[in-house]
Amino acid sequence: PRPVERDAVRRRLSRCLSVDDVERLARRRVPGAVWDYVAGGSDSELAMRRNGAAFDRIELMPTTFGQVAAPDTSATLLGRSAAAPIVLAPTGYTRLSHHTGERAAAVAAEQAGLPYTLSTYATTSITDVARAAPGGRNWFQVYLMKDRAVTRAHLDEAREQGYEALVLTIDTTVTGMKRKGKQNGFAIPPQLTARTMAGMARHPGWVADILTTQPLRFATFSEGSAHARWGMSNELREQEIRPADITWLREEWGGPVVVKGVQSVVDAVAAVGAGADAIVLSNHGGRQLDRAPVPFELLPAVVEAVAGRAEVYVDSGVRSGGDVVAAVALGATGVMVGRAYLYGLMVGGQRGVTHVLDVLTDEMRRAMGMLGTPTLAHLTPEHARLRDR
Ligand code: FNR
Repeated sequence: PRPVERDAVRRRLSRCLSVDDVERLARRRVPGAVWDYVAGGSDSELAMRRNGAAFDRIELMPTTFGQVAAPDTSATLLGRSAAAPIVLAPTGYTRLSHHTGERAAAVAAEQAGLPYTLSTYATTSITDVARAAPGGRNWFQVYLMKDRAVTRAHLDEAREQGYEALVLTIDTTVTGMKRKGKQNGFAIPPQLTARTMAGMARHPGWVADILTTQPLRFATFSEGSAHARWGMSNELREQEIRPADITWLREEWGGPVVVKGVQSVVDAVAAVGAGADAIVLSNHGGRQLDRAPVPFELLPAVVEAVAGRAEVYVDSGVRSGGDVVAAVALGATGVMVGRAYLYGLMVGGQRGVTHVLDVLTDEMRRAMGMLGTPTLAHLTPEHARLRDR
């Protein structure tokens, strides 16, 4: 690490008091096409905008004079203690955000005492992430492949490397249309066109970091295979996932299975019935079905229907500790965060992710202190009220 850059990172991060601050700085750190890929949503981006707006409509309602000196944010996630009810969500092609990519995110999560989820579409291998964060709670996100032998190989490697849980994503029948990416020629794996090269020329540091470290490629597939070349293609992925696939996965894996991308009470109940230990209400951060329901708004009905038979997580739009507190108050076991930590990664690699996780837990602690809730168990639906607008 270059000392000069380290100081610049520290200077930049010290100015960021919120995830929104980190987002503003992040935008300047990466080529425009990378920014559009990470920050954008699908189609008209309606679902993405609604995700954020829903959290803004929440009021947190103090009780017991709203005074607690030292609230405790610790949570039980998949039956084990974590520093906060926060899980780092799986994100494909993380090394686009910063050359240290998945390793940096996993190490920051390990140090913060939070689980980290590695994507099937990662740019760092299952083994390399485990080696970087050997004491971490690493989860592996499964995109079920039509060729189940490829999925079995993922399970074997994850088991071998001590991963704690599988996260099966069920909302990606086809990859959502990111209009900006399509228009500006952005593709994964990246293709060099006049336009993408012009964008990269404005970020020589970013380009140099990528070129001088490991190659940018789908690292969870064996090199040279069709999957490594065409990773995200719809044709290779199982496009018709059914509850029976959850049962199959659970038997093959033998450990906890989380089902991510649940968007209705009916599917929540079906996933739990098929053996899911946890579900994640998610619309993929507004990157898949446009006009998808806002996961946060599904929470109360799903929590009621699941009735304690499985843990219920929620993601899509979490940008502050107050958002996390609101989700827990409405019955969530925890939240996943995606873009929030990617923005931290863009600004300062591993230290940027650590900064974002610190901001979120600090905000949680302040909110809980003023709400009068010493622990997460004290948070109840009476602490969160949805305003009409
Ligand atoms: C994602 N997400 C995602 N989910 C998944 O199951 N597998 C994946 O490979 C990816 N890839 C991915 C890439 C990028 C750049 C983003 C931003 C997101 C979705 C992710 O896990 C999570 O559901 C959302 O990011 C949550 O919304 P927020 O926190 O970004 O608003």
